Amino acid sequence: MKKSEILSGLRGRSLLRDVDLTKEEFIGLLDLGERLRREKWSATEKKFLKGKNIALIFEKSSTRTRSAFEVASHDQGAHVTYMGPGETQLGHKETVKDTARVLGRMYDGIEFRGFAHHDVELLAEFSGVPVWNGLTDQWHPTQLLADMLTIRDHATKPLEQVALTYVGDARNNTANSLLCAGALLGLDVRIGAPIGLQPSEDVQLIARRLAAHSDARILITENAQEAVANTDFIYTDVWVSMGEPTDSWAERIKLLLPYQVNEDLVKASKNPDVRFLHCLPALHNTDTDVGAELNKKCGVSALEVTDEVFESKTSIVFDQAENRLHTIKAVMVATLAGA
Ligand code: CP
Ligand code: NVA
Repeated sequence: MKKSEILSGLRGRSLLRDVDLTKEEFIGLLDLGERLRREKWSATEKKFLKGKNIALIFEKSSTRTRSAFEVASHDQGAHVTYMGPGETQLGHKETVKDTARVLGRMYDGIEFRGFAHHDVELLAEFSGVPVWNGLTDQWHPTQLLADMLTIRDHATKPLEQVALTYVGDARNNTANSLLCAGALLGLDVRIGAPIGLQPSEDVQLIARRLAAHSDARILITENAQEAVANTDFIYTDVWVSMGEPTDSWAERIKLLLPYQVNEDLVKASKNPDVRFLHCLPALHNTDTDVGAELNKKCGVSALEVTDEVFESKTSIVFDQAENRLHTIKAVMVATLAGA
């Protein structure tokens, strides 16, 4: 199938989970993101979304996802309405189904960041317009598009030969999406996490089914050193996600300190060219409210990644953050304009 046919096949569709895409569609979005990035940098970007209205609903806070959707919309000539936590009737006085039917009559596309994944499914089912999942408790698909583009930018070999290791809380949205997107695209995907924080059976099953088609290699282990051995990329995320009780911190720190991305773990990769990824925000020092509080309560100066690694040449987290813009733009352009 030609690239243009793959993208036109995405027109009118929603993006709720990474695995709603075929491998060809996923790669098609990466290629489109790369093209839109090139065009933005050379000031030759065409506006495919002129006159479109986009709703951005955030039930949880955001820096990157919100900024990426807003800047991408402005770059492409669309208008946005931002509705932050507690600012809509959704869930309080109005059902998701009713909100979906209202927004679908006013907007051409809806971004939703929330808690239950079922809510984003209801929005997609009843709004009648493309809905983009900007993160739910279970999945973070737009993140993985940016991550895979970043990996492709920095890798010296095809994606299918890349080893990508995730360490830390591997039951969260980012880890679920990483495992399944890696399996979809045929990578060597490794997860290093304690038993209680490994991906659920359901998510593992999805990944293993995809791997049977893509020849992806999947390793899920309690041993962080084994997970990073000879890997190309080490990825981590926060140890307590948005929406989880904050009194989980002490227990999580105890469980996850052996999975902290520090210089020893980076060295255990035995790969001098290994690169560090993080979806951000990251707790790598005590300069944030949460970082300072955890330092006081639990005596830790960094959580999932140390400052040394975060600030080192190994770290490509800001390239990764920028790619949120280009890949989210690709999703909107493909699903609203099929271009
Ligand atoms: N990575 C990510 O989704 O960041 P935000 O929470 O800032 O949107
Ligand atoms: N797992 C994190 C991702 C933040 C982008 C969270 O849900 O808080």
